[in-house]
Amino acid sequence: MSRALITGASKGIGKAIAWELASQKKCNLLLIARSEGLLKETAKALSETFGIEVDYLAIDLAAHGAARKVLEWTSQKTYQIDILVNNAGYGLSGPFDKYSLEENTQMMEVNMVVPVQLCQLFLPMLQSRPKSYILNIASSAAYQAVPYLSVYAATKSFILSYSRGLRQELRHSGVSVTAISPGSTDTDFVVRAQIGPKGVKTAQKVNMTAQAVALIAVKSMFAGKAEVITGLINKVGAFMVWLMPKALVEKTAMKLYE
Ligand SMILES: NC(=O)c1ccc[n+]([C@@H]2O[C@H](COP(=O)([O-])OP(=O)(O)OC[C@H]3O[C@@H](n4cnc5c(N)ncnc54)[C@H](OP(=O)(O)O)[C@@H]3O)[C@@H](O)[C@H]2O)c1
Repeated sequence: MSRALITGASKGIGKAIAWELASQKKCNLLLIARSEGLLKETAKALSETFGIEVDYLAIDLAAHGAARKVLEWTSQKTYQIDILVNNAGYGLSGPFDKYSLEENTQMMEVNMVVPVQLCQLFLPMLQSRPKSYILNIASSAAYQAVPYLSVYAATKSFILSYSRGLRQELRHSGVSVTAISPGSTDTDFVVRAQIGPKGVKTAQKVNMTAQAVALIAVKSMFAGKAEVITGLINKVGAFMVWLMPKALVEKTAMKLYE
């Protein structure tokens, strides 16, 4: 039976992806995040609702060696996975130097270093299966520079570019790589990112639900899509960004986050 490992599965989009995989495919699940209580609650609800095996690991992915610890945990428990979902991530809004070196570095670790490390560490296992999937969660912020969310947007451009490159490298293997770019989604993202009232108000006008994003993400992954922007508004937004002068796009975005 299929088994998926999902990072950032304690809430938001990651939790919704877990529910989607359980309801659509009856996948067994491995849930990763920091909040042990939320993971335990989600694991119990999923296994009782769908009769699947669900285990969890509470770990801070920003901590040194976290990706290796995730692999060691799966090895100790003799879990084999055929779906890897790199969803854990967060933003920090405001001036670049509002945050310490450690804070910006930890965000880069969680948003881009750990996803790459997990892909590398789990690739042999994924390649040993007849068909397997990597689902990386990028963002609509991947398509432009976002002043006052500069580091976050750059980590998402990285993930998008990395996912597309890896997908081509693996095109003759059984491993399919999909990048999903959600736009504003109604989760705790804005709280951790410390988005101000202007940004929150704009987000609320176009917010999608985590469930809607998860449905698109899981469908796209199984369909073997390379890259999907969730929702029509976000698709149009990315097209406008491509069409318009970069400085104009950046100044418009800047007003939301300064
Ligand atoms: N919401 C949006 O508007 C939006 C838009 C575009 C892209 N995204 C992307 O979607 C993904 C999911 O975000 P979300 O919107 O669902 O936000 P969320 O509700 O804040 O969920 C973030 C998830 O990541 C986990 N996480 C954060 N830091 C972690 C760490 N150091 N170690 C382990 N787990 C960690 C959180 O769990 P714990 O707190 O329990 O550790 C949580 O499960 C992120 O990659 C985000 O960049 C979100």
